[in-house]
Amino acid sequence: MEASTRREGQVAIVTGASSGIGRALALRLGDEGYRVGLIARRRDLLEAVAGAIISGGGTAAAAVSDVGDRAALHAAIAELEAWLGPVEVLVANAGYGAPTRLNPLNTAEVEETFRVNLLGVIYSIEAVLPGMLKRRRGHVLGVSSLAADKGLPGESAYCASKAAVNVYLEGLRIALRSRGVVVTTVCPGFVQTPMAPMDAAATPFVMSADAAARRIARLIARRRGGVVRFPWRMALLMSLIARLPDAIVARLVRVESDPHPAEAERPR
Ligand SMILES: NC(=O)c1ccc[n+]([C@@H]2O[C@H](COP(=O)([O-])OP(=O)(O)OC[C@H]3O[C@@H](n4cnc5c(N)ncnc54)[C@H](OP(=O)(O)O)[C@@H]3O)[C@@H](O)[C@H]2O)c1
Repeated sequence: MEASTRREGQVAIVTGASSGIGRALALRLGDEGYRVGLIARRRDLLEAVAGAIISGGGTAAAAVSDVGDRAALHAAIAELEAWLGPVEVLVANAGYGAPTRLNPLNTAEVEETFRVNLLGVIYSIEAVLPGMLKRRRGHVLGVSSLAADKGLPGESAYCASKAAVNVYLEGLRIALRSRGVVVTTVCPGFVQTPMAPMDAAATPFVMSADAAARRIARLIARRRGGVVRFPWRMALLMSLIARLPDAIVARLVRVESDPHPAEAERPR
């Protein structure tokens, strides 16, 4: 745990702050004067992010936790609140992605995908919501994905976990409408991060982690809630893909799944 109190401000907790979008967002919020609580598993990376915020004149504290471990996550968030104060903004961003294999099904990775992407979001909200409801104020953002729009071949588990996040947050958003707590579902398209290293030239409408973080920081500042899908051209493309017949999707999306040994031996 690392902390400093050089600047006053609202408290924002970012899960998955050690890398990619979460890291870029934590740095940005630190620059904007938020007191930033950072959560992830890799202590060295988290402390480096906290250190960068503090050396820029901001306030940050880091707590190591697996978001899929309910008790550990609650303890980490309580620890951050004790250092920084009551949470105004929660960005449930930590995420995991693995291809969905066919034969054999990679059930352990599917379980991990749901544990981190869905239960991690729910446990994070569970830890901060009672305080927000008591204060009748707060903003919960869940980082989902445009992949929630469609069960893509080779990505069934990831897409399903994000679709579950969208629906979970939708119900929460409606239930919390008159309780002072705003809920925003953030659905980015392709973002260049360690989770998804990609050939920018071959990937449609790819964004940098900084650009995605800028977008999310604006959503935090606006505090409007709702579902936000970006960049708009990728969002449009995904809503078109979601309406295509299966046969066309099968032709468009190449599946890089492990073939069954018997299938692998077949002439192609
Ligand atoms: N990159 C994309 O194209 C893209 C597109 C749409 C949506 N998203 C979503 O954006 C979010 C951030 O992903 P990213 O692209 O920035 O990936 P990333 O660079 O791999 O970052 C993932 C973050 O999640 C943390 N994390 C993973 N499993 C965790 C666990 N069990 N407990 C705690 N923290 C965990 C990682 O930290 P530790 O490993 O240190 O724990 C890391 O900080 C994810 O929810 C992802 O699904 C990404």
